[in-house]
Amino acid sequence: MNDRLIHLRNDRVSYAMNLLEGGIPMHLYFGARVESLNPVAMLRHNDLPLDGSFGLNGCPLDHTPHEYPSFGLGEMREGALTVRAQDGTRTCDLRFVSADIIDGKPGLEGLPATFGDNAKTLRLTLRDELLKLDVTLSYTIFDDVDAVIRSAKLTNTGDAALYIERAYSLCLDLPDSRYDLITLSGAWSREREMIRRPLTPGEQGVSSLRGATSLQTSNFLALARPEATEAQGEVIGAALVYSGNFTAKVHVDSHRSGRVMLGVNDVDFEWTLEPGVSFQTPEAVTVYSVEGLDGMSRQFHRICAEHLVRGKYAHAPRPILLNNWEATYFNFNEEKLLAIAKTAAEAGVELFVLDDGWFGHRDSDNSSLGDWKTDLNKLPAGLGSLVEKVHALGLKFGLWFEPEMVSPDSDLYRAHPDWCIHVEGRPRVENRNQLILDLSRTDVQDYVYQAVADVLAENAIDYVKWDMNRNFATVGSAKLPADRQKELPHRYMLGLYAVLEKLVNRFPEVLFESCASGGGRFDMGMLHYMPQTWCSDNTDALTRCRIQYATSLIFPPFAMGSHVSAVPNHQTGRVTPIDTRGNVAMSGCFGYELDLNRLPADDLEAVKRQIARVKTIRQTLLYGDFHRLLSPFDGNDTAWITVSPDKTEAVLMVTRAQAQSYTFAPLIRLRGLDPAKTYTVAETGESYSGSELMNAGVAVPLPWGDAASVSWTLRAQ
Ligand code: DGJ
Repeated sequence: MNDRLIHLRNDRVSYAMNLLEGGIPMHLYFGARVESLNPVAMLRHNDLPLDGSFGLNGCPLDHTPHEYPSFGLGEMREGALTVRAQDGTRTCDLRFVSADIIDGKPGLEGLPATFGDNAKTLRLTLRDELLKLDVTLSYTIFDDVDAVIRSAKLTNTGDAALYIERAYSLCLDLPDSRYDLITLSGAWSREREMIRRPLTPGEQGVSSLRGATSLQTSNFLALARPEATEAQGEVIGAALVYSGNFTAKVHVDSHRSGRVMLGVNDVDFEWTLEPGVSFQTPEAVTVYSVEGLDGMSRQFHRICAEHLVRGKYAHAPRPILLNNWEATYFNFNEEKLLAIAKTAAEAGVELFVLDDGWFGHRDSDNSSLGDWKTDLNKLPAGLGSLVEKVHALGLKFGLWFEPEMVSPDSDLYRAHPDWCIHVEGRPRVENRNQLILDLSRTDVQDYVYQAVADVLAENAIDYVKWDMNRNFATVGSAKLPADRQKELPHRYMLGLYAVLEKLVNRFPEVLFESCASGGGRFDMGMLHYMPQTWCSDNTDALTRCRIQYATSLIFPPFAMGSHVSAVPNHQTGRVTPIDTRGNVAMSGCFGYELDLNRLPADDLEAVKRQIARVKTIRQTLLYGDFHRLLSPFDGNDTAWITVSPDKTEAVLMVTRAQAQSYTFAPLIRLRGLDPAKTYTVAETGESYSGSELMNAGVAVPLPWGDAASVSWTLRAQ
């Protein structure tokens, strides 16, 4: 840091800004580490006066790369901040006040956040003197990741309320826009399709107004040089540590510079900032890679592993589970469940999960959400008795909840009809026959916390599946005043995070898995509370190849719940071999979603072999370095490999979607191995040098038929 230049860096990346005359922070650089930076080149590039005569008069603010651009002073591009004053105007002029660099990474009050001591954090405070608004921008660089973590805190230091119309977490101005934009798009049961297209002038991106990150897209984008591939080329990736409404977009201006913005969606958003009060934006993670998409993903994965996920299971083996949902749906009793659990235990499963339908009188999805009391018609001896019997089989016990919801047919709704999100006088829009509890209210937060905590405290529950199956509609809160209704979506998230924080702290031994009709809330926000997320309701192995491949752009295998289910598959009707289902599912948090008693004898034997194998290699499968090798978005084959940190063990997965006659075994160049080591494939006994596997590649013969798959364990001698 000198008079004008602020340069934050670790061994591999640099982030720099320059204070212009008058104290406007101008963005200079984000990329590979540089030893020094001369702002003159960037000033010249942006046609800014080199003589320091920068000011508001005649200065082309419209060309300036900004750190945190605001609306109204001559900047014609979309900015990161819009604040309305008492007089209704929305001009904001942020000027430098102070900057300091501290050791470590402070947390964010009420929001999920990255953490870690091996970091430096720059706090840059700017002020609008007229509005009496202070904005503190935080930038953290950890020693071990090529990333910058950013957020903004707005404080009203005046004596009149201010109205925040937009406060994004990240604005990153790039000197050129010669990039492809990569986003993830999809729907229920086909989440996260990879979409890649060139940037064009104007605005482009993805967003959600559903009250959740959504099944339809993710709060992530990547900019890859057109020539960038999986293995090489420059890529910038950005993701939000948040789970609610968001926007992630890029604006390309008339000079073809690019502006990346990420934050809470400003559509249907406004926040009243009373005097003396602060507003904290969520965090945005921006990673830099010169090693293509693979390099970007390894940075995201490391952030998840070392700086985001907390608790007992952060680095621990995850239990192999069996979930009864697709085995029974709502139609079960204790006897049926115990029969499933017994065979599961015999096969080596470690955790039995009782999904939806154990409470109230929930025989279908049209009742009882909110009434978290055991249905004694299905479980006459009570939940505790079932838990004991499952434990006696040597299994852990897991339980499903959907705590954020209420069914109109429930005691909770009859007692508190105003506790749901609704607009007075309008029909209450139901989705899956349910309404959303208004978690912006503290009384509702208390109820939700207590209802779940009571069940966990009264029964020895080892795992919780936290589901959420509908999105916002008729958005209104009975508790919020008229001028604060637009705060509801963000207040909902703050309420949910408060409940989750209390629960995970009170029950540190419990493994929590997040779910939202599958992967509808697969984001870095939820991962801070729950170390794994159910990837998709679609368990068809071929669809899962696509979903898990694209999910891995951001999230590591240990974050992805993935199960083997019955065939024909309940979502696609496809029949795939048991080995293929196993190979794909074991590339994440492994489990089963079926009744093993109904499997053909050969398949049950295959299941036992899968489980025994996973137990020996799961540390590598979950926590190894994950590399994508062949993309299902580009062709018929999918391949990926996970390599243990010491590079002595690796698991290769290859799946071919459609059988073709007269084709060769795919020749695959592996990645992440030690070129100097010799690896033996446990399944074939063949040995190869690491350099051969990575440079020449290896031909992997696939079995006959559609959806054919192979999984190899490679061990270095
Ligand atoms: C949606 C989830 O994604 C499924 O796995 C299952 O838990 C159902 N909800 C239960 O209603």
